[in-house]
Amino acid sequence: MAQPLTVTRIAGALGAEISGVDLSRDLDNSVIAEIRRALVEHQVIFFRDQHMTPAQHLAFGRRFGQLQVHDFVDGMMDNEEIIEVRKEEYEMRNFGGGWHTDVSYLERPALGSILYAREVPDAGGDTMFASQYLAYETLSDGMKAMLGDMRAVHSARRSYGLTAPRRADEGKTSMGIRFTEEAHAEIDHPVVRTHPESGRKCLYVHGGFTVRFKDMTAEESAPLLEYLYRHAVRPEFTCRFRWRNNSIAFWDNRCVQHNAINDYDGQRRVMHRVTIEGERPV
Ligand code: SIN
Repeated sequence: MAQPLTVTRIAGALGAEISGVDLSRDLDNSVIAEIRRALVEHQVIFFRDQHMTPAQHLAFGRRFGQLQVHDFVDGMMDNEEIIEVRKEEYEMRNFGGGWHTDVSYLERPALGSILYAREVPDAGGDTMFASQYLAYETLSDGMKAMLGDMRAVHSARRSYGLTAPRRADEGKTSMGIRFTEEAHAEIDHPVVRTHPESGRKCLYVHGGFTVRFKDMTAEESAPLLEYLYRHAVRPEFTCRFRWRNNSIAFWDNRCVQHNAINDYDGQRRVMHRVTIEGERPV
């Protein structure tokens, strides 16, 4: 008989730590269902002291859906569905810095990401998360009505396009990132999406991959988008996770933005991420 899980909230807005489960094991469907319920309720969940091989990490991820292979970041050798999020002592830029939700430039963006800490700095390198339910719910009725009919265009070009700022220090990045014409493709999604499991509405634009509103220019879109980006990550919508080696964060990309804080220059940080495919946002 499975042990009951203990779920402890870590902040007022979102986030809960779960104990009483060993994720390296072949868990019962009932335990996976409980973890999934906790994810939908708390939007991001955390586990400590997990000891998983890459194969066990992949197996855990697959219990929640099909895993994505990243279009622009090399996967690990033999495990292409795992990307190694790495910053070496000598590097200045981190991967995942700046508020965003993963791979929203895809037709079927990520349901969730499961990030496993292999080697974290003594201090710094936390990750922050922001609830996009709260971001939506705290808008005025007028703004909600206006955004309700709008769509936004997403593209990977700022991060992985031929003119991506990071390309300038390509030689210095230790991660295998491909900068390509394909990253300039565009897809549009609703600005306000309805979460397929909770049925709640949330804001779905962010500074990582949203480039403009559909049928508007980037210049016309910028003022309102900039306002929404600032509003979406107000401190009262966030939680902050302090990593230890072997910690796991599992976030729901459908309703959460995250930001890897880049405050640990001179120290190494190595994480493994698997990304679960989601549905087309509606
Ligand atoms: C990411 O955006 O996937 C990276 C998050 C992190 O390294 O904390």
